Amino acid sequence: MQAPPEDWSADLPPLLTTRWLGRSFWHLPQCASTNDEAATRANQGCAEGTLVAAEQQTSGRGRLGRTWHSPAGANLYFSFVLRPTLGPGALPPLTLLVGAAVAETLDHMNIECRLKWPNDIMLPTAAGMRKAGGILIEMATASGSIKHVVVGIGLNVLLTGFPPELADRATSLQLAGESAPSRLALLAAFLNAFEPLYEQFLSHGTDFALACWRRYGWLGQACSVERESGSVTGHAVDVDPSGALVVQDGAGKRHVILSGEVVTKL
Ligand code: BTN
Repeated sequence: MQAPPEDWSADLPPLLTTRWLGRSFWHLPQCASTNDEAATRANQGCAEGTLVAAEQQTSGRGRLGRTWHSPAGANLYFSFVLRPTLGPGALPPLTLLVGAAVAETLDHMNIECRLKWPNDIMLPTAAGMRKAGGILIEMATASGSIKHVVVGIGLNVLLTGFPPELADRATSLQLAGESAPSRLALLAAFLNAFEPLYEQFLSHGTDFALACWRRYGWLGQACSVERESGSVTGHAVDVDPSGALVVQDGAGKRHVILSGEVVTKL
């Protein structure tokens, strides 16, 4: 018999040390996308830090228009609302900061991970580095400034099987290690880690986000990037002040990558 879906509404608050992040919380058995649920609440004027988590997503989405595999009960799918008084240029560094907070959370649980730019959560496995999570940040703007930002995070926790198209690229905390922490403990630890980092980002600016990301960034690896202007092959060497990836080609020329898919298996 299948266990009833857990209701975290009562169990999350005692685990939180945050002042505002996750203090307003919905835990849904199913939804299309937690990013959509959070955006709806943001448009209705919800408090900053409002959080929506789901056991299952029927239309979970990733970067570059991809689908995010979101089966029931095994993983973390959650989104929360921020209302930074910053211009849209702050979004790439904010994205890097979110990745760094996920990496720091895992690091404190002794789970080794690397961030593949911009924000794939990569875990070492016997077959090499595999993706266990990703971050999708979406924003609404008005008159050139940010109205709200929705931060969406998907993390494969207990999943042990993937559809064929993901089988040689994806992993989960359970598959990559001996055992995985509980999803609720992970969620609370992330929220507790992110709130102070975000507040420091707001007061110290972009350099703070870049420094956090560099601690966990998967740099130095050979890669290629497809861009509209042509492909670049070289090594990922750094992130620049705007949050873009810097790739150095074989001739020593540095290319700034603002968006796109970085392929690391060459
Ligand atoms: C990526 O790596 O392409 C980003 C994946 C982001 C997935 C999460 S799951 C929770 C939130 N809701 C969504 O529909 N997407 C994000």
